[in-house]
This record gives sequence, C-alpha cells and structure tokens, in this order.
Amino acid sequence: MPADSKTNETVSITDNTTGKKVDFPLLTGTEGPKVIDIRTLYSGLGFFTYDPGYTSTGSTESKITYIDGDAGILRHRGYSIEELAEKSDYMETCYLLLHGELPTAAQKEDFESTITRHTMVHDQMNNFFRGFRRDAHPMAVMCGVVGAMAAFYHDSTDITDPHQRLVASHRLIAKMPTIAAMTYKYSIGQPFMYPRNDLDYAENFLYMMFAVPCEAYKVNPVLSKAMDRIFILHADHEQNASTSTVRLAGSTGANPFACIAAGIASLWGPAHGGANEAVLAMLGKIGTKDNIPAFIQKVKDKEEMLMGFGHRVYKNYDPRAKIMARTCHEVLSELNIKDEPLLDMAIEMEQIALNDKYFVDRKLYPNVDFYSGIILKAMGIPVSMFTVLFAVARTVGWIAQWSELIADPAQKIGRPRQLYTGAAPRNYAPLHLRK
Ligand code: SDX
Repeated sequence: MPADSKTNETVSITDNTTGKKVDFPLLTGTEGPKVIDIRTLYSGLGFFTYDPGYTSTGSTESKITYIDGDAGILRHRGYSIEELAEKSDYMETCYLLLHGELPTAAQKEDFESTITRHTMVHDQMNNFFRGFRRDAHPMAVMCGVVGAMAAFYHDSTDITDPHQRLVASHRLIAKMPTIAAMTYKYSIGQPFMYPRNDLDYAENFLYMMFAVPCEAYKVNPVLSKAMDRIFILHADHEQNASTSTVRLAGSTGANPFACIAAGIASLWGPAHGGANEAVLAMLGKIGTKDNIPAFIQKVKDKEEMLMGFGHRVYKNYDPRAKIMARTCHEVLSELNIKDEPLLDMAIEMEQIALNDKYFVDRKLYPNVDFYSGIILKAMGIPVSMFTVLFAVARTVGWIAQWSELIADPAQKIGRPRQLYTGAAPRNYAPLHLRK
C-alpha cells in the first residue's frame, strides 16, 4: 500500500462484549470512495468480515482501471473509455493497459510488430485441437487450449523472470485471436487459417474466422474497425469476477497461461461474459415485440432475468453500452441491414425497462453485453463464439492485472476466511450404531 494512500482519518470498531476498541486507518485513492484498511481486524479484535459477493470489499490496490458506477464513468490509466473508443485503437489500448502510458510512435510500431510476430501457434496445437469433439462449445475448447499453452510455451512460465512474464503477455494477447478462430474453424470442419502479418489485429481475427484457403478474402474495413472498437470496449474492467479469478490464481504463483485459463472459465458464466450469448437466447425466446410486455412482467415476477441488464458497479448507464449501441447502428448500416428485428426488440426492451419502476428503483441499465451480440451476429459471428470474443479482448486486462499483481511487493496468496455454520464438534459413530 503506497504511503500517499494514508489519510489522518480512522474508523473505530469496538467489541461491545469486551469493550476493546481498535482504530483502522482510512485510505484514499486518486478517485473513488475511501477504503477502510481492516488488515489488523483479526489480530486486533479476533473478528473476520462477512461480505459474500465482495459487495463492500476492495481486494487490491490497482493503477489500471477506474470506474465510478454512479456516474457511469470508466477510465483506463486516466483516459475515458469514450475517448479511447473514438480516437485510439485496440493495440494502443493494450499497450496503455500493460505499460501505463500511451505509446510513442516508435513504441507503437515495435509493440504491433511484436504482437504480430507472435500470432502463430505451435504447430503441434493443431493436433491438440483434434482431441476435442467438433460440437464442443468453443469456450470449453478455449479453456482447454489456453491452459495447455503452458505445455507448449514452457519457456515463458517462470513468473520470477520479468522478461518471461513479458513474453507470456505478448504470446497471450497475440495468440488469442488465432486460438479463437481455430475453435470456430474446428467446429465447422474448415481448415485452420494461418494469421497474416500484413493485417492488423482485428482484421487478422476476421480473416482467420471467415477466409478459406481456396479463395481470396478481403476484410471489410468498417467491420474490422467495429471489431477493433468492440475489443477496446471489453479490454479491462477492474476487479470483475474473471479478473479476480485471474488474480487469485496468480497469487498462488501459478503460471500466466493457467491463470488466464482460469479467467476464461470464470468469464463463461451467464452472469458475466456469457451474458452476450444469453441476450440473444433471450431475444430469440421472446420472439416478437408483442411478447415483450409479458416477458418484462416475468422478469418483475422473478421468473426471468433481463440478460444484458444490471451491473454490480454501474448504477447508471454502462458507458460501454452507449458506444456499443452506436456501433451497432454503424455496422447494420454498412451491411445494409435496414430491418433487424433483434435490434428493434432490444431498443424497445431498453425503452420499456428504462421507464419501468422495477428497473428504475433497482437502477438496472443496459450493460456492455446488451448490444454486442446483435453486432456480432450481424457480422456473421455465431452466437456460441460471442463469449470467446469477450475472452480475446479481455486477455490484455487479465494479463495487465496479473502483471501488476506479480510485480507488487505486498502481494500475498489470496485466502479469504468464512463464517462457519456447519455441525458443532461431535463424536464419530461406528457404522453399526448409525441410524
Ligand atoms: C459483465 O463486473 C464487471 O465488471 C463485469 C463486466 C466486465 O466488463 O467485466 O462488466 C461484464 O459481466 C456484465 C454483466 C453481464 N451479466 C448480465 O447481463 C446478466 C444479467 N445481470 C444480472 O445477473 C446482474 O445484474 C449482475 C450479475 C450483472 C449483477 O448482480 P448484482 O450486483 O449481484 O445484483 P443483484 O443480483 O443483487 O440484484 C439487485 C436487484 C435484485 O432484485 P431484488 O432482490 O432487490 O428485488 O436487481 C435485480 C435482482 O433480482 N436484478 C435484475 C437483474 N439484475 C439485477 N432483475 C432483472 N434482470 C436483471 N438483469
């Protein structure tokens, strides 16, 4: 914990049974609410805190991403997501997240060239893929393949070596689109496409997804620009569930490939990154606009969830959802899709929800996943690949947070405690005496 986080303020807790009182320092970051440093709670008072879901718990100090959920603000290294999405590109955002500053022209060129030259995967990985069923969910394949990277790239698993850590970071960022596209190609029985070094990150991903070896394929620049922006919007989001999973795995000293595989597993759930797939399933289930009011009623009766809505931190519009909605219109217009029933339904649902007391009272707004699926579907990305794309984009956030953790001298193994409510001590009964 940096010295400049300390304030002169404290918060006291008194144990009413013993009368013992302990003062806990209040810490302050660059922005955001003050934080009570409760590290001496157990040694001072013999208590633990109880906070399932970590609704009031800061698990780490971090310099990477800041969110003000009430104001709907998201910044990476001080730069607003709106500005990054409009003026930057994904490679530059990756550099910013990893290194803390926007790159100079020379640094950018060098970084892009390094990432480009790491995009191919070990040729033996092609054989590894063949062990999976063709109808496996791409997220299942991705969890397995990324975890297996530790076996293919053993020379970048020594986490005590800063150079190996950097190489692992580059390998992960560079190879994720290749692995993602391979999961798709494998599922449809088409040959894997090698990456092309003349294409940028987003173009390369679309190329590896949609090209085939027997004919030329030209990537649509509007779509690759939209894909690049989608990658920026998903790049990092401070201590969300998958990032916290990566950090917890990393705190044990596990190698970066294992940690990112753990993050992918955590992202898969429908309450987190799996929501983009779940939104499309929900819209499909509702079917037509006429059925929206009945569905909204089911949500209010707690029989259904409005997927792509609500957020632990945002109690205001998720700023990424606004940019995503705009991007959605751009993509549909480029593809000359004048009438997209899914988009019409999504817009109508959003309007109903934003004006309905149930959603207003609970401060439920569209999140990043609400519109992304509609864009991806229009681009021809299959629904089962949506969360895979989230994983591709989030890899830089995971790895930046992991690198921050490993470099932090105050880092300790993550080990929460519990409120035990199980059986009190009792004696073992031999089998013949049990009823
Ligand atoms: C992501 O954390 C991150 O940063 C994640 C993320 C990232 O970039 O990493 O932003 C990406 O995961 C976005 C979220 C994607 N998930 C969904 O869209 C799934 C639908 N959303 C919900 O499951 C939910 O809103 C969560 C999981 C996102 C947040 O859950 P919380 O903070 O634990 O909120 P809660 O469950 O305590 O809900 C509070 C109230 C409850 O009602 P009451 O019990 O008070 O009556 O709001 C209701 C909930 O039932 N509620 C919803 C709802 N979300 C919350 N009701 C209907 N539909 C919803 N979507």
